[in-house]
Amino acid sequence: MDRIVINGQKKLSGVVHINGAKNAAVAIIPAAIAANGVCVIENLPKIEDVSILADALRSIGMVCEFQDSDSHILRIDSTNLTKYEMTYDLARNMRASYYLLGALLGRFKKAVVPLPGGCNFGARPIDQHIKGFEALGAHIRQEHGMLIAEADRLTGSNIYLDMASVGATINIMIAAVFAEGTTVIENSAKEPHVVDTANFLNMLGANIKGAGTDTIRIQGIHSLHGCEYQIIPDQIEAGTYMIASAITGGDVTIQNIIPKHMDSLSAKLIEMNCIIEEGDDYIKVIGDRPLHGVNIKTMVYPGFPTDLQPQMTALLCCAKGTSVITETVFDNRFQYMTELKRLGCDVTVEGRVAVIEGESCLTGAEVRATDLRAGAALVIAGLAARGTTTISNVKYIDRGYENIESKLKDLGADVSRITVPDDVRG
Ligand code: EPZ
Repeated sequence: MDRIVINGQKKLSGVVHINGAKNAAVAIIPAAIAANGVCVIENLPKIEDVSILADALRSIGMVCEFQDSDSHILRIDSTNLTKYEMTYDLARNMRASYYLLGALLGRFKKAVVPLPGGCNFGARPIDQHIKGFEALGAHIRQEHGMLIAEADRLTGSNIYLDMASVGATINIMIAAVFAEGTTVIENSAKEPHVVDTANFLNMLGANIKGAGTDTIRIQGIHSLHGCEYQIIPDQIEAGTYMIASAITGGDVTIQNIIPKHMDSLSAKLIEMNCIIEEGDDYIKVIGDRPLHGVNIKTMVYPGFPTDLQPQMTALLCCAKGTSVITETVFDNRFQYMTELKRLGCDVTVEGRVAVIEGESCLTGAEVRATDLRAGAALVIAGLAARGTTTISNVKYIDRGYENIESKLKDLGADVSRITVPDDVRG
């Protein structure tokens, strides 16, 4: 098992290059199932979820080959795809496995896929996905931990989502590409990775309009060809390094990003008294001044992203004054607080609200990542803590961050990765 060891209180400075967006990659790779041809997907992040999905596609007969030593370019050939049943072990450990359902249902009108796994912060139902598939004419049932979807035909329909679900929006969009007639998704999610997936499908020859708004129209077509596509930079990886610069009083340029995607975080960092300089494809964050606490309310895009909520909590522990974070997207996304408190964070949680007393003097400790972004929050707190912080369960962090310790080391952090025998608990 790997652990990340950080000796804190080093100011970060320099330039960090952001990789492709995890949440775009885990949607676009399964969406390639819909193409009857070869897709070459570029700017993929080298993370666990991408390699799991590549294995999953191989298990149903697709050719999936990384084209470079860094695994940033994946060539997918689904020409001879015949299987619509996904093997259980490959995909059940990640939430995004549900996109395989929409893609296989769209192409074969039948799909057998394991119930999704992934980070556990509260109930993460997929009722809206199923509501959309049923509106298109599919019948869905669950047997032995597998979701089975079948349809004689898929017919366009009007679907009004109960909430602007990212996963449901993308999944229904993928399945609807082959539905006869027009499908309209109302109250659709507007996240950048929703738009990126729609753009990819349109490069394959689909006819999708309105992605990025709350109404998406999909005109069904009979088949799709292959394409070459470069996915967008990762908004959440970028935000994580912006916050890391702020908490260490650093001066870091976060490069290869779309600054517009960072607006909600940039605004909050400016409110905290950080200096933010913005270029075409970079943002510079200067934090070497007293930072003020602020109030955060996570919202769907373009609001403050829930995936930066844990990282922001760590930063606010070091700011002046009291801050309040309200989590409106998930019903239980503060479980990581126990571990942050080991580092000295002064936080009280009541339901979906966390009250953070600032100016905590963080000190290093042994802590454990409980999910992907919680792990990132522990890294950020460890960068600011006096002494040594050792983070276990690094596998969670590796699901969403490529080479996190070498990127931080290049910015001046005293950080390393150690491997300990599996039987050593911690
Ligand atoms: C995606 O999860 C992301 N994961 C999450 O990122 C992100 O936190 C989330 O969107 C919100 O932005 C991927 O893209 C793989 P939702 P998803 O459907 O699709 C409820 C990360 O760290 N809901 O928008 O699961 C749900 O319980 C991960 O990168 C239903 O009730 O999120 C939640 O409360 C963590 N029924 C809310 O909607 C449904 O059918 C938003 O969920 C679907 C969702």
